[in-house]
Amino acid sequence: MAHEETSGANVDIWHHLVLTRFKQGTSDVKKWPDNKIRQLEEALQLFDPVLLAITSRTEGDRGGLIATFVSNASIVPDCPRLMVGIARQHHTWSLIENSNSCAVHLLGRHQLDWVWKLGTRTGKQVDKLADFDLTHWVTGAPVLSEAIAAFDCQVEARFDTGDRTIYLLEVLEARKMKDELALRFSDLWKVADQEQRSLLNRLLQQDQQLDRAAICRWRGQRREHRQEQHRRPG
Ligand SMILES: Cc1cc2nc3c(=O)[nH]c(=O)nc-3n(C[C@H](O)[C@H](O)[C@H](O)COP(=O)(O)O)c2cc1C
Repeated sequence: MAHEETSGANVDIWHHLVLTRFKQGTSDVKKWPDNKIRQLEEALQLFDPVLLAITSRTEGDRGGLIATFVSNASIVPDCPRLMVGIARQHHTWSLIENSNSCAVHLLGRHQLDWVWKLGTRTGKQVDKLADFDLTHWVTGAPVLSEAIAAFDCQVEARFDTGDRTIYLLEVLEARKMKDELALRFSDLWKVADQEQRSLLNRLLQQDQQLDRAAICRWRGQRREHRQEQHRRPG
């Protein structure tokens, strides 16, 4: 893999993240002027999210993906919770929907290959976990033994936002397995060569188109629902 250091390393992908979201437009999406989008890009870059691997399995199927939409969702040590957002078109989404459980993993900085294995192709036809050393804890979700930390979780609640489902997860078991720094998006972008950046951008744009349509549909349905309630007498 070619190592390429550029100033403003994340600019390309954030450019796509934000610009394409607004420019491909639908009647439901307000067009933002470029200067406002620039400001949004700069603000979003500060997130520099940690990359996580989320795995799940059902009776005869298993899989996983890479996610940045993950957060600690509890400050109570004996009521631990995480929150994750999984797009409905992903194979892993249907595994979580059917099993009501998943494992959430932090990757070490050297585990960049996991991003390409889990985050750039779907597991609908292939077993993406075949190469991984797996173990199982409480829920039966596949735990990646080589991760730097893992959380075995069951779904406590779900919220449909149109493009993705936001899962509130109850953590049943959690372990730090290695004393390493977690992999962040900027680490990935710095070492990705031109071909890999193009791949990430292309996949992102595909997902954005699906997400945009789903968000607009969802907003339309909510608007109709609110209007319907407003029209009801009493
Ligand atoms: C850096 C990066 C971050 C991602 N973040 C998310 C995310 O937060 N939620 C999500 O649903 N997909 C996310 N994805 C997309 C999935 O990981 C990707 O589409 C995966 O191939 C889906 O696999 P599946 O169909 O086997 O579940 C991300 C991908 C990358 C490369």
